[in-house]
Amino acid sequence: MSSKNKLKNYKPKGTKLRHVAIIMDGNGRWAHKKGKLRIFGHQAGAESVRRAINFAVSYHLDALTLYAFSSENWKRPRQEVIALLELFVRVLEKEVHNLHKNKIRLNVIGDISRFSARLQDCIRYSEKKTQHNKGLILNIAANYGGRWDIIHGVRALAAQVQDGRLRPDQIEEQTLSEHLCLNQIAPVDLVIRTGGEYRISNFLLWQVAYAEFWFTETLWPDFDEHVFERAINAFLKRERRFGCMTV
Ligand code: IPE
Ligand code: IPE
Ligand code: MG
Repeated sequence: MSSKNKLKNYKPKGTKLRHVAIIMDGNGRWAHKKGKLRIFGHQAGAESVRRAINFAVSYHLDALTLYAFSSENWKRPRQEVIALLELFVRVLEKEVHNLHKNKIRLNVIGDISRFSARLQDCIRYSEKKTQHNKGLILNIAANYGGRWDIIHGVRALAAQVQDGRLRPDQIEEQTLSEHLCLNQIAPVDLVIRTGGEYRISNFLLWQVAYAEFWFTETLWPDFDEHVFERAINAFLKRERRFGCMTV
């Protein structure tokens, strides 16, 4: 074997796509462009969510993680927050049976304790109903923040240290990873952000350490199978190195 081929063998094969995470941005601007209220954009965005889920199922992804409401989105006008959370309840109540029929397992990540009792009940019911499904794992990030996620994990470890169950020098990357959201599933391969902004907005901070990123100007309500496919094709052309050498 030539030395070149030998080196090639050290290259991790990273192009298999298992887990896509999406920052669904641009609903407000989409509505504004049409001279409508922002909530109209969120309603149209719910249709894009349905399309993205169907695409993920037909593409046989292991997991799809959607950023629906950030821990900072409470800063928006009260009317918009209320309308968004009501939309969340309505869509979930309406769609849970379809999710179940399609063998999708729903998992909501984020601090749901701040939501209304009705929304919390609806989330728990939907998670429980779909918990044994073996198809797509659908994670909805709601009142989620990457910093919150890390703090939550660190607190759990600190409690173990305090109880004498863990020594500080035993804390490794893996130890903290096990206490963060999404720790049971395939790592995030690809992060898509719609809406033309180039930032992470406190989404999965720890979990995207080696994810690929793909940005598009497309506003979330216009996101469809074709845009999803473009993102995937771009991902498949990438060479993931994970810190290894290039050639
Ligand atoms: C994304 O769209 C949805 C949420 C953040 C809940 P936006 O509401 O942020 O839309 P823009 O960015 O203002 O256009
Ligand atoms: C990120 O979008 C949050 C979600 C998509 C849920 P934002 O619209 O809240 O992000 P910023 O404020 O532009 O960073
Ligand atoms: Mg936005």
